[in-house]
Amino acid sequence: MDVYDAETYGDKIAPVYDELYPGYDENAIHRLAELSHEGRALELGIGTGRFALPLQDLGVEVHGIDASQAMIDRLRVKPGGERIPVTVGDFTVVGVAGEYSLIYVVFNTLFGLLTQDAQIHCFENVARHLTPEGVFVVEAFVPDLKRFDNGQSLKVISLDEGALRLDASRIDVAQQTITAQHVHLSEKGIQIFPVRLRYIWPSEMDLMARLAGLRLRQRWGGWEMTPFTGSSGKHISVYGLG
Ligand SMILES: C[S@@+](CC[C@H](N)C(=O)[O-])C[C@H]1O[C@@H](n2cnc3c(N)ncnc32)[C@H](O)[C@@H]1O
Repeated sequence: MDVYDAETYGDKIAPVYDELYPGYDENAIHRLAELSHEGRALELGIGTGRFALPLQDLGVEVHGIDASQAMIDRLRVKPGGERIPVTVGDFTVVGVAGEYSLIYVVFNTLFGLLTQDAQIHCFENVARHLTPEGVFVVEAFVPDLKRFDNGQSLKVISLDEGALRLDASRIDVAQQTITAQHVHLSEKGIQIFPVRLRYIWPSEMDLMARLAGLRLRQRWGGWEMTPFTGSSGKHISVYGLG
């Protein structure tokens, strides 16, 4: 593919996103509501509102940023979706009005920024929009290089009578990037959904935060606040100013 920019992932996957990822973790929504401390929340990469809508249902004023108009269009037609102010643009740079007591980015969306500089700029942009007591919450996987053999991985995502879904990935360990295609095969034909990401370990993330004037406050292995350990597959990290 020649061009892959901030809106490519969302624009391609929008028609099937809710079918592929229908659920959310109730614990996530309750934890985010607590962390908002009754202030305003901003979701980076709000997408079709999978997290934002149930959070709004708990009484939190949620705003969003997303680069993909196609994803935002899906959010708009859902109940409550018309009430969420969304800024269209790249969340590394886009300006939003005012400050938030909670800014969050979930489902590995921070890794959608493909360079170290872009990821640092994201932390800096967040720091500019947090209230003094506000927090930045990141949900991301812990990189697992064992799943790659000779720099490649081919995984069955799902397989049933009607369809086969595959994830074909290549890793570049020098750049910490993964280039993937999610391939869906069914009687309807073949669909491909491109995914690119730059993975980082929690330690690099903490340094990025520090460069932006943020410090790690808490880290869990899941939304139930389970301890983060060497065997955790993902982390929830909470950063604050100072
Ligand atoms: C994996 S989806 C997650 C959507 C939603 N947070 C969820 O969990 O269902 C990633 C979202 O981030 C958006 N996105 C990716 N990179 C972005 C960027 N640089 N700036 C703004 N939005 C971006 C995509 O358009 C997409 O809607």
